[in-house]
Amino acid sequence: MKFGQLIVILTSILVSVIVVSGARTHNEPEPLVETKLGKAKGSILKTVRGVEFKAFRGIRYAQAPVVDKRFKAPESVNSWGKNTLDATKDGFKCPQPFLAKETMSEDCLFLNVYTKSLTGKKPVIVHIHGGANYFGSSDSETEVGPEYLMDSNIVLVTINYRLGALGFLSMKTKEAPGNYGYLDQVMALQWVKDNIVSFGGNPDSVTISGQSSGGIAVTLHMASPLSKGLFHRAITMSGSGTNHFYVDSVAWTRRLATALACPMYNPKDVIDCLRQASWEKIIEVRGILELYGFSDIQWGPEVDGHFLLDTPTNVFARGDFNKVDIIAGITKDELNYLYESQSSNIGLLNDISINFDKYAPQLFIFNSKDENTIEKSDKIKKFYLKNKPIKDQAFSNFAVIFSDAIINHGVHRLVQLARKYVNVFYYRFDYLGRFSIFPDENNKPRGVSHADDLQYIFGNKWFGKRISQADPEMFMVDRMTKWWTSFAKDGFPCTENDIKWLPSNKTHVYTMFNDKSIHLGPEPYQERYQLWDEMFPVKK
Ligand SMILES: *[C@@H]1O[C@H](CO)[C@@H](O)[C@H](O)[C@H]1NC(C)=O
Repeated sequence: MKFGQLIVILTSILVSVIVVSGARTHNEPEPLVETKLGKAKGSILKTVRGVEFKAFRGIRYAQAPVVDKRFKAPESVNSWGKNTLDATKDGFKCPQPFLAKETMSEDCLFLNVYTKSLTGKKPVIVHIHGGANYFGSSDSETEVGPEYLMDSNIVLVTINYRLGALGFLSMKTKEAPGNYGYLDQVMALQWVKDNIVSFGGNPDSVTISGQSSGGIAVTLHMASPLSKGLFHRAITMSGSGTNHFYVDSVAWTRRLATALACPMYNPKDVIDCLRQASWEKIIEVRGILELYGFSDIQWGPEVDGHFLLDTPTNVFARGDFNKVDIIAGITKDELNYLYESQSSNIGLLNDISINFDKYAPQLFIFNSKDENTIEKSDKIKKFYLKNKPIKDQAFSNFAVIFSDAIINHGVHRLVQLARKYVNVFYYRFDYLGRFSIFPDENNKPRGVSHADDLQYIFGNKWFGKRISQADPEMFMVDRMTKWWTSFAKDGFPCTENDIKWLPSNKTHVYTMFNDKSIHLGPEPYQERYQLWDEMFPVKK
C-alpha cells in the first residue's frame, strides 16, 4: 500500500471520530477585510483553547492555470472588483489521486489566511504542504488546520500549488521547462508580501515552513533567485532539496504521453497534445506509472535557468543562497514503516535481493547511468543488508535505506552546508504519542514515522483524531507551536526548563532531541550519512 492510499483509507475509516474544532460561532458577525484587490468576507473559527480568530479561505492568488496556461508559469490576478469576495470556504484542491472529484479543480491556486486581528504587524508563517509533489492541499479541515498555531499571535497563510504532471511536467525545453508548482508558490509568497498587511501581518517578517516535499520546496526557495526577499526565516520538516535525487523527467513525460496516446518526442507536439487531455485522465494515468509501491518520485525540481540556476546542493555549498536562519530536522524513524505492506511480497523482495544493483537506482532515486552505479548499489547492500537477502530482520534494514536516501541524508546535507552561513536549529523528533500516520494492525504507532510530527502543529485528519486540551499529547502541541511561533517572531525557538536550543553554526553542531523531555546532543546517524556523503560528494 502506498502512502497516499493509506491516507485515504485512514481518512475513511476514522472519519467518524474526528472532532472538528474549527466550527463557526454564530454570535460573531462575519469579519470583513479590505485588501488592495477588493473586499472579502471571512468567518470566525476557534483555537483548540476556544479563542476566536478570523479565517479568510479560498482567496485566489493566481489566474486559473488551464487550457493554454497549463504547463506554464502562473499569471497574477487583478482586483476582483466591487463585489465582496466570499472567503468563508476552502478553495478547490489541485487535481490528485484519492480524492472525491467534486472537491478538485485545475483552477486551484487559492490560499487561506488566519489572523487574530486585522491591525498591527504580526509575524507571518506561510506553510507549504507535503505529499510527494502529487497529493495534498492547504485544506483547513483535513490537512492544515490552524487551530493550534492560532493560539499564538501570528498570521498563518496556507497555500495550494499545482501537483503531479500539471505542476512539474518537464521536457527540459522552453515548451515545458517544469517547476510550475514552485512558481505558484513564488506567486503566493509575492501575494503575501503585497497583501498581508491588510490582515494584520508584517510583510517584513515572513517565515516559510514546509514538510516532506513542502520542506524540499522551502529549501528550493532558499536557493532560488526568484524567491529572494520574499521571506525572512525558513522551517523544513523532513525534506531538503540538497538531496542526491536524480529524476528522469523527460522519460516520465514520455511515459505519460504514451499512456495518453500523445506524441512522445517533439516538445511542441507532446505539449500541444497533453494540453488537450482532461486533468481527470492525467491523474488516472499516474497510477499505471507507479512501479512497486515504493518511492515513486516522478516530478521534482528542474534546473531551468529561471527558478533554479544550479542544483540546490551546489547553490548551498557556494553560500549563494537566500541566507535566512533555519529550523530543520527529521523524525526518528521517517520511512521505516512506509513500505511495510511489501514485507510479504516474497517474489519482489527475492528479485531485489538477487538484482539489487538493477533496482537500487530507481528505489533510491539515483542515476542508473552513472559510471559507478553498480559500485554504489553494492556499497548500500553491504552497509545496510550485510549482503543478506531481504526478508525478516533484513526487511527492516532495507526500509531504513529509504529513510536515509529519501529524507535523512538531504536534511543532514542542508544542515552541514547551511550552518557555515546561517543559524540552523537542527532537531530530531522522537516523541511517540498515541497516534501515527502509519499505525500497526492494532492501530498503535510502530515508531515515530514520517509526518507524525505534523499532528502537533496542524489539525489534520490523517491521524484519525485531533488533539484537544484534555489529551496527553497536548504538551507537544504547546511545545511545537511555541517553538515555531517564537522562531517566526524573533529567530529563536524558545525552550523550556532552562535548556537552550543552541543553533548549529560554523564551528558547532547540535541536535535537539524532542521527546517527552528535550535534550541537545550530537548529530544522530553519522555513520549512515558518511556512506551517502562518500557516494554523492559535494562538488568543491
Ligand atoms: C557557535 O556556537 C557556539 C556555541 O553556542 C558559540 O560558542 C560560538 O560562538 C558560535 N560561533 C559562531 C561563529 O557564531
